[in-house]
Amino acid sequence: MKKIFLTKSFKETQNLGKKLAPEIIGGKVLAFYGNLGSGKTTFIQGLAKGLGIKNNIISPTFILIRTYDLKSRISKFYHIDLYRIDGEKEIDGLGIEELINNPSNIIAIEWAEKIKNILPKKRIDIYFKESSENERQITIERID
Ligand SMILES: Nc1ncnc2c1ncn2[C@@H]1O[C@H](COP(=O)(O)OP(=O)(O)OP(=O)(O)O)[C@@H](O)[C@H]1O
Ligand SMILES: [Mg+2]
Repeated sequence: MKKIFLTKSFKETQNLGKKLAPEIIGGKVLAFYGNLGSGKTTFIQGLAKGLGIKNNIISPTFILIRTYDLKSRISKFYHIDLYRIDGEKEIDGLGIEELINNPSNIIAIEWAEKIKNILPKKRIDIYFKESSENERQITIERID
């Protein structure tokens, strides 16, 4: 199922992410695609808020993976940013596949196309397009 949204501000994109949260359960992988500054992190900040995460979500660009506790305590939320990764070989040893295979994790991956061969078939793809300075076209596609 595919749905297309148009947001007209940073806040609207955050709210869209927040609205998606109740549908996200453990074992879900959310794959984000779109240019620099297209709104991926902004959306993930809203999603994290909706999942009850109180910490500020900051871009993990230099750290690659940031981990946040969820209310249930057992599950964790992982925010991964692959911008600096050149190809699938570079992620060897980072344990991303293990994170994906653990059904209690919720994982948001920016620049997910860089690891398309290890993305699970069942996932949510979210595409960002900058239609003008403050407008973003956001396509959410559930694949099961
Ligand atoms: N409708 C909108 N939705 C989201 N962000 C918007 C919107 N309009 C303007 N912006 C601005 O666009 C920028 C989006 O930045 P953000 O860090 O979310 O992008 P990103 O896709 O994560 O980029 P990167 O690939 O560098 O991680 C912010 O500066 C934000 O204020
Ligand atoms: Mg980002």
